[in-house]
Amino acid sequence: MIDQRSSGTPSPAYTADPAWQALTEAERGIFTTRRDALWADVERPLRALYGEHAAYPQVLEELEVIIARAYAARTLELRLLDERRLSTPDWFQRPDMVGYVCYTDRFAGTLRELPGRLDYLEDLGVTYLHLMPLLRPRSGPNDGGYAVEDYRSVDPRLGTMEDLRDVATQLRGRGMSLVVDLVCNHTAREHVWARKAISGDRDYQDYYLMYPDRTMPDQWERTLPEIFPDFAPGNFTWVDECSRWVWTTFNDYQWDLNYTNPRVFAEMLDVILALANQGVEVVRLDAVAFMWKRMGTNCQNQPEAHSILQAFRALTRIAAPGLILLAEAIVSPEDLVPYLGTGDATNKECELAYHNVLMVSLWSALAEGNARLLTRTLERMPRIPSGTAWLTYARLHDDIGWAVTDENAASVGLDGFLHRSFLSDFYSGAFWGSNAKGLVFQENPLTRDRRISGSLASLAGLEAALAGGSEWDVHLAVQRILLLHNLVLAFGGVPLIYMGDEIGMLNDYSFTQQPDHADDNRWVHRPRMDWAAAELRHDPGTVEGRIFGGIRELAHLRTQIGAFHARAASVPVWLGNDAVFGLVRTSPRGRILVVANVSDQPKWVSLQGFDRLDPGAWLDDLITGERTGWTFELPPYAVRWLVGTD
Ligand code: GLC
Repeated sequence: MIDQRSSGTPSPAYTADPAWQALTEAERGIFTTRRDALWADVERPLRALYGEHAAYPQVLEELEVIIARAYAARTLELRLLDERRLSTPDWFQRPDMVGYVCYTDRFAGTLRELPGRLDYLEDLGVTYLHLMPLLRPRSGPNDGGYAVEDYRSVDPRLGTMEDLRDVATQLRGRGMSLVVDLVCNHTAREHVWARKAISGDRDYQDYYLMYPDRTMPDQWERTLPEIFPDFAPGNFTWVDECSRWVWTTFNDYQWDLNYTNPRVFAEMLDVILALANQGVEVVRLDAVAFMWKRMGTNCQNQPEAHSILQAFRALTRIAAPGLILLAEAIVSPEDLVPYLGTGDATNKECELAYHNVLMVSLWSALAEGNARLLTRTLERMPRIPSGTAWLTYARLHDDIGWAVTDENAASVGLDGFLHRSFLSDFYSGAFWGSNAKGLVFQENPLTRDRRISGSLASLAGLEAALAGGSEWDVHLAVQRILLLHNLVLAFGGVPLIYMGDEIGMLNDYSFTQQPDHADDNRWVHRPRMDWAAAELRHDPGTVEGRIFGGIRELAHLRTQIGAFHARAASVPVWLGNDAVFGLVRTSPRGRILVVANVSDQPKWVSLQGFDRLDPGAWLDDLITGERTGWTFELPPYAVRWLVGTD
């Protein structure tokens, strides 16, 4: 494609900007080089989104000014980070990446107090720290910070933008990347854009999806599911002050943004770059599946939602290539992989996405003591692009929705609906013999869908075992907790540890005492860090020590194993035993077979004739350092990391 500008047309608008003019020749050259290299990737998705818009040329020009200004404002330290990332593009795919996810207040108090806790994270091997929503939320109920009133300031209870910048710098000094949420699908109804819309400003009403009567909402509702059927039924909220129905996918105070309006796109791009310039290295884009609406559909995962992400990526890579994007799309397997880029957009969408399918399948395998559905589901997922990685996890701050498709269930002889029902029964403890202590979240009387809240340890049976079980029950629960973390570490990608899970923290029922939290039982698994319990982490005689020590050892061991690089090929293998999960990872630096017994009974595994490992007389288990033959017994919930050897 010929760039018009090289044939003598006027200079781009940003060159008149004082920030641009203050740059040196070399700095300008770097920007222009990246801009030229990536402009086609900018234009392709933008044309798909706004090509028909009368003001399309001005839109492009405005976006270019935004990225040029953001680039000019980047500090020397961040420019050097950009160069480092460009020269080691696999930085987030390496086996030494370990993520930790926490609420600043619940973990450390304030941003200023956070650095005092970094030794703890370093001990665990953490290199990626996701601080849960920290931009200024509305007061009152705010969905755990996912209802933002101001993207330009930090929640005053946590600190200031300067504090955030300091935290980012301190983290970087320790080789840790800061990850921050950007709630890009909706704002709080108290955001200044929403306030202007309420006061009747047409320009700002166009930032949202607003209707004077029920005609359109009723049409949309025909095909829209409900996300919070329990405490926020429906997808529209009547706003008296402006006499409009406003689109609110989530709670009534979370107003969906209108991305058909290019101004909304430009505003959000500017916000992302402002965060990058504070030193944020990964932006977690919240609820991206919902960003584009199409009549007659469920208004999720629309092609335009992907175009928005592709355009964000290309534009941010010009201004701040040290930044990568994380898609929060908790959707079914076939809809999930495209967030990492497919077709023309391969390696050109988000670098990271949550592997909720792995998470759900792991819990399903443990409930059944059977690995067939886990194996089959993973076998059926396409490979992801070479420049991307999964975020793997067993538990995070949200509920668990049973993303098991009918097809995958049927492929192992299960009925999808009944299996999802069984999982809800099992994890809410209603199923006979279950030791899980989850709570049912958002029971939907229409679809009979039930999601589950609960801490990892309580779902894995530790709460019940400690309350009345035997030492053996406690042992089994600890083994289940370690198995989950082990597979999350071994699967490939960035493994996430959710605050408190590393010391086996149980459900926290005190949320019922807090008026803002009482009706949202996801707070049962969002406890305050128990630092007294954390003190026990190096004592192998305690439950905390067994869990923390086990995870820490695995995380450290993993850094040495090339086959755990996210780019290594990862193939689930069937080892002939229903209770045994196998995964072969192959990289130029070696092969490894991960074998896990997902049941509470010992199981025999025979690898005679198995030709996917390096041949040898023996197998070495890298975890225990023990050598075995090719037939061996796996204790309940045991996992081995095996390599062939002579
Ligand atoms: C994401 C968040 C969830 C929140 C929702 C709406 O899914 O993880 O906690 O409720 O977005 O912002």
